[in-house]
Amino acid sequence: MIINVKLPLVNLKKINGLQMGDSELQELDLNINWHPCSQMKDYEIFKPLIINKAYGCYLELSNGKRIIDAISSWWCKSLGHNNFELKQALISQINKFEHVIFANTTNKTIVDLSNKLISLMSNLNKVFYAGDGSCAVEIALKMSFQSRIISGQNSKNKFIALRNGYHGETIGAMSVSGIEIYRHHYSPLLFETIFVEPIYVCGTDDRNWTDVSSYWLKIQRSLEPYIETTTAIIVEPILQGAGGMRIYSKDFLSKLYAWAKKNNIHIIADEIMTGFGRTGKMLASEFVNIQPDFICLSKGLTSGWMPFSAVLTTDNMYQIFYDDYHTGKSFLHSHTYSGNALGASLALTTLNIILNNKLYDRANRIQKIMKTHMNDIAEQTGYIKNVRGIGGVVAADLISNNKRERKGYQVYKEAVRLGLLLRPLGDTIYWLPPLIVSEETLLEMKLITTQAILAVYENK
Ligand SMILES: Cc1ncc(COP(=O)(O)O)c(C=O)c1O
Repeated sequence: MIINVKLPLVNLKKINGLQMGDSELQELDLNINWHPCSQMKDYEIFKPLIINKAYGCYLELSNGKRIIDAISSWWCKSLGHNNFELKQALISQINKFEHVIFANTTNKTIVDLSNKLISLMSNLNKVFYAGDGSCAVEIALKMSFQSRIISGQNSKNKFIALRNGYHGETIGAMSVSGIEIYRHHYSPLLFETIFVEPIYVCGTDDRNWTDVSSYWLKIQRSLEPYIETTTAIIVEPILQGAGGMRIYSKDFLSKLYAWAKKNNIHIIADEIMTGFGRTGKMLASEFVNIQPDFICLSKGLTSGWMPFSAVLTTDNMYQIFYDDYHTGKSFLHSHTYSGNALGASLALTTLNIILNNKLYDRANRIQKIMKTHMNDIAEQTGYIKNVRGIGGVVAADLISNNKRERKGYQVYKEAVRLGLLLRPLGDTIYWLPPLIVSEETLLEMKLITTQAILAVYENK
């Protein structure tokens, strides 16, 4: 039998250590790698950047060119690249042990980390670890769901989520994500979710930030039919990332939480992107007085050094599952790298650095500068609108009459050529730099973004 296996077009001489040029490496890469969240055909024209080094807010390419990482490498590098203390923490943990199964074992680092995590929210005092953000979301969904079965509330088996919300790529996480472009191919696989539209604002000075009373009755009425069948609502508190860096009213969030509490519906706060200072608070959940039943954390948890995530929950939730083994109430969910020691040591050090240096306050300081810069760009170019921001994030929409023009992608390419890594979400451009970013770098980001926009719109 002949098995027809398509081999990648790999030049073995090159792999075997002979000198390889940049374009050959890119070609080799594109022969064998399938990059995340990409249309691979785009790389025919704009090849993957070859990274040699990364430090602070900068990436250094193989040709020596320096590029500002304005998106914190998918929103995780809150302390920037190559942080010295994190490197030391990693080395110190490696010198002890790198990974041991976390079922049936423990160690001081993970206990210290969990203690630190539960000190962030007074009602959350149990921690369950996983690897990626999506896994953390799956855990919160499953815990909520299973707790209802154990408690004999079997009809409570659905979730409410926000339109434009994003919670990850696994089937459960995708089911509760409200962004059509990511979910529509898989819709037959996804479970039914009820979506509600938040009230968006452009920042904390927006009128609707503190009062959405005039909208709320209608929203509440639309949710009422689902009270008996809903186990939990899941939200990215205050700031929706992948849905277009949209900020919504804290009064909306407060009212939604109050409604959920009143109706025996769990609250899952997905803080995978918002956590650890990004919104100007240590956790975005601090914007409202009602505390969630679950918080999902990842990304900034290790300042983007390792795949590592955690779910915090309440003692009440934990007690529902706590019983003799034969009762079948255990939460039999596992990931091989759950509680990974390297991730734990990085997370503990990251938390200490953020708390000791009050980096959440710094996020508020850079907000003012970034928003002024983005407003200046809007005024100077006339090609962006809806400038909005909170904490260490600012965003705006490129003006475009035709999605097929892919203005965002064009600006991305131009900005990279000029020394800035943006990765627009469609036609939404945003800056979400490491929280340690300097004012000089922010100014450089402004100048390059302006130039990139003018190059795309006016061939300048
Ligand atoms: C809010 C939110 N939740 C979940 C995820 C999924 O995390 P991961 O990509 O680590 O699976 C992301 C990723 O961007 C996110 O922004």
